[in-house]
Amino acid sequence: MCSDTELAIVVDRLRAGARTTILTGAGVSAASGVPTFRGPGGLWKRHRPEELATPEAFAKDPALVWEWYDWRRQLIAACEPNRAHAVIADWSRRYPDCRLITQNVDGLHERAGAEGVIRFHGSLWEVGCWRACAGSPHRWMDRTVPFDPLPPRCPHCDAPLRPGVVWFGEGIDASVLSRSDNATACDLFLTIGTSSLVYPAAGLVQQARQRGAFTVEINPDATPLSDGVDLVLRGRAEAVLDAIEQRLAGR
Ligand code: OAD
Repeated sequence: MCSDTELAIVVDRLRAGARTTILTGAGVSAASGVPTFRGPGGLWKRHRPEELATPEAFAKDPALVWEWYDWRRQLIAACEPNRAHAVIADWSRRYPDCRLITQNVDGLHERAGAEGVIRFHGSLWEVGCWRACAGSPHRWMDRTVPFDPLPPRCPHCDAPLRPGVVWFGEGIDASVLSRSDNATACDLFLTIGTSSLVYPAAGLVQQARQRGAFTVEINPDATPLSDGVDLVLRGRAEAVLDAIEQRLAGR
C-alpha cells in the first residue's frame, strides 16, 4: 500500500476549511461485493454495453435489459456499504465544504449516510416512464426487488418503465453537470476507485487541477489519469481511506 508520507500529505490537506471534492467509481463498492465494470470479473467482460445499456437496446428488448438491471438490483439489495463508504459519509457530514460526485448507481453512499450526493450516472433505485408520459414525474424512487413481471409498467400510461440510470449515448442531466462543474472549484480533489475511462466524469479531475486543486487518485491499479494527478495512493479504497481516517483521528 501507499507510504506514511503519502498518507500524511492528504491528511494535511483535509483540514476543516478545505474545499474537498470526491469523485467515486465502481472500485469503492468492490469490497461490498458489487462487481466493477472492467477488469477481472467485470460486468462488461460478461455483457456488451451496447446490448444492455443503450436506449436502442431497451427499445428492442425491454425485458432483456430489465433482466440485467433487476439482477443487479437484487444483488446490490443484499450488499452492505463498506469502510470506504463509511469514511466518505463521515467526511460529507463533518466538512461543510465536502462535495461527493459518484458514478455509481448502487446507492451505497446514501445508505452509509452520505449527504448531498451528486449522482452523475443516475440511480438503479429510480425509474421513469419510457414514453415520458405527462402523468408521471421524470424519475421516481422504486425499491421493488425483484420486479415481476418484467418490464415493470408505468402506473399512469402502462408503457414500460426504464431504469433511472444514464445509458451510453445519453447526456448527463444539466443540473448534475452544473453541480459537478461547480464542485471542481476546490482545494483538494480525490478520484477514488474509477478507471477514469468514461467521459465526461473522467474529465472532472483535470478540470479541478486546472482550477488549482491538489489532485489525488486512490486506486490499486494505474489508470490513464495516474500520470496527470499530483499524488497517487496505490491501494484499495477501503484500506487507504481507513488509514487516512485513523491518522485524522490521531491528530
Ligand atoms: P470500472 O469498472 O471501469 O473501474 C473500476 C476501478 O476500480 C478500476 O480502476 C479498478 O482498478 C478499481 N478498483 C477495484 N477494486 C478497488 C478497490 N477495492 N478500491 C479502489 N479501487 C478499486 O468502473 P468505473 O470507473 O466506475 O457507466 O466505470 C465508469 C462507468 O463505466 C460506470 O459508471 C458505468 C460504466 O460503463 C455507465 O453505466 C454510464
